Amino acid sequence: MKFFVDTAEISEIRELAETGLLDGVTTNPTLIAKSGRNIAEVIAEICEIVSGPVSAEVAATDYKQMLMEAAVLRRIAKNVTIKVPLTPDGLRACYALSREGIMVNVTLCFSAAQALLAAKAGASFISPFVGRLDDIGQNGMDLIADIVQIYANYPAIKTEVLVASIRNPIHLIEAAKMGADVATIPPAVIKQLYHHPLTDKGLAAFLADWGKTGQSIV
Ligand code: G3P
Repeated sequence: MKFFVDTAEISEIRELAETGLLDGVTTNPTLIAKSGRNIAEVIAEICEIVSGPVSAEVAATDYKQMLMEAAVLRRIAKNVTIKVPLTPDGLRACYALSREGIMVNVTLCFSAAQALLAAKAGASFISPFVGRLDDIGQNGMDLIADIVQIYANYPAIKTEVLVASIRNPIHLIEAAKMGADVATIPPAVIKQLYHHPLTDKGLAAFLADWGKTGQSIV
């Protein structure tokens, strides 16, 4: 399973890139606003740190404007993935861009029918938002199971399931059990993945016992 980080904060991306865990980055207009940076500058900086796909989202809602924005964003770096919303214009832009060999991430997916449309439009990634479905009392992970199952029925579909709006490690583990291709994870949730109280307790005991030996390895 590929791990993307869902942030536009350079310091967080740099720190994660050094762990070797990071396969890509996703941003969206909210994350760019949060960074307080110019989109072109921040995406360029991210692409210098991470060689995998870096999603940059168009802000336009009409097809022609989306393509104009995509042209600007693509020029930033080779690994820029154009992110478009799951709307009729967004899917039309996805079809046009993917035919030119450009990676497209279709975002704001909340149904299996939408995911099927994105695959037919040639999306490289479909981004179903699990946390936001949970927020309205629906089970976000059921959507992932449906999309993974549907895509698996059609080997011609090359679209990768990119689980988005992840709020906790359980979302990630469930997604991995279902065979989702990618998870885009907020930095705080990536940090949570490392921790287990028994690891901390076990390490403390080992260190205490080691201290009693009076030895040093180097
Ligand atoms: O990048 C899209 C998605 O991951 C947003 O997550 O937490 O704002 O629903 P969230």
